[in-house]
Amino acid sequence: MTSRAQGIEQNRSEHSREIFERAKHVMPSGYTRDLAAVKPFPRYADHGEGCWVVDVDGNRILDFVNNFASQVHGHAHPVVADAIAAQARRMTSAIMPSEWEVKLAELLVERIPSVEQMRFTNSGTEANIIAVKVARCFTGKSKIAKMEGGYHGQYDLLEASFQPTPNGWGDPKTPTAMANNPGTPQSLLDEVVLLPLNDVESTRELLRCHRDQLAAVILDPFRLQLGMVEPEQDFLMMLREETERLGILLVFDEVFSLRVSYSGTQGARGVTPDLTTMGKIIGGGLPVGGLGGRSDIMAVLGVDAKPKVKHSGTFTGNPMSMAAGHASMSLLTEAAFDDLAAKGERLREGLREIQRNYQIPGQVLGEASFSVFLPWQRAIRNYRDFFQAITGGLVDRLAAIQKGLLSQGILTLRGGFIGSTPMTNDDIDFTLDAMARTLEGLRGK
Ligand SMILES: Cc1ncc(COP(=O)(O)O)c(C=O)c1O
Repeated sequence: MTSRAQGIEQNRSEHSREIFERAKHVMPSGYTRDLAAVKPFPRYADHGEGCWVVDVDGNRILDFVNNFASQVHGHAHPVVADAIAAQARRMTSAIMPSEWEVKLAELLVERIPSVEQMRFTNSGTEANIIAVKVARCFTGKSKIAKMEGGYHGQYDLLEASFQPTPNGWGDPKTPTAMANNPGTPQSLLDEVVLLPLNDVESTRELLRCHRDQLAAVILDPFRLQLGMVEPEQDFLMMLREETERLGILLVFDEVFSLRVSYSGTQGARGVTPDLTTMGKIIGGGLPVGGLGGRSDIMAVLGVDAKPKVKHSGTFTGNPMSMAAGHASMSLLTEAAFDDLAAKGERLREGLREIQRNYQIPGQVLGEASFSVFLPWQRAIRNYRDFFQAITGGLVDRLAAIQKGLLSQGILTLRGGFIGSTPMTNDDIDFTLDAMARTLEGLRGK
């Protein structure tokens, strides 16, 4: 397989354009999910080959998005594809459980420090919904604390202040919960305690103040807002100590961040939460989510538990997602994680050198298979720093870079690169050359 993209030629898009014209008649704005929206029209995927996607017009594109980090083995990995095909020939779902759910649960219990027992769901969003119910049932309290700017999927409670704005976000030390969508009831927002990420003292104070109503604190322990804001180690440790002392559950949303290491971000940071939510890589490219944690807490999901959280779902634990997830996770050995991290480091080193060569003030962030090219010098320690950066021109700069890379056949997030196991050093070097060419082209603009 070649490791050079052909680049995207503007004249090779007729088929995508034509599909999009049809899409506009049957879906709002032509899309079924906002994330796929690209102006003036999206390129429709035809198939994938390892770390490459090929669109319906035949353009080959190096994929650094990997469906928002879920495709850790890229596309159509033969082992995962065989597991899916074999299971599809046996059955896709039934009311009876299959052994695959037990095998996948065993693998996760063995690897993830906080996980003694598992329940599966169909998405990360759903895993977080169940986590909230479990925390409320176990503690007998109703409020949930989350970070300002934190993303946990599409549950309206946890969407509060995902992207708040200055016209309502309040004092930085005691942020106000803002609705993410018009029509969200105030009563729902009243159940959320917003925490200022990385402000140890203000957060400690807020936890103490709301201790009698707080069931849980939830956060992504790795990064938020497209990887630009990182929870600092002393903040994570304070959260662990304080929640334990106050009888509040600590939930790590590792839907995204499980790919940081063999034992997730919690293993890499040495901080063990009470509950962990998962998704993306544990499904081998099929829809999935999961909630794991301490047995005494997970016990509220038991069939005869009193009090009990009801949890079911037509496709929960379906053998397709479980078999694909098991095949995919089994390939992710410690050596595979080391290899992902080494390639990530090669990319980050190269990006740093390019930043120096082109005298671009900024930083390169990231860890393991996740890298962020950030042409912004000031530290981004919380959502409000991030907001200042994006409204101060960062988004335009990143969008121009993203466009330049795509024109050379490389698909990235704005500033973000998410690697996959089939990527080679040649692919990384090709990306670095394309980045240098992109910045050359943007010079003086
Ligand atoms: C940290 C985090 N939590 C939750 C979710 C939601 O997962 P899903 O899209 O599977 O519902 C995501 C998705 O990107 C995520 O990054």
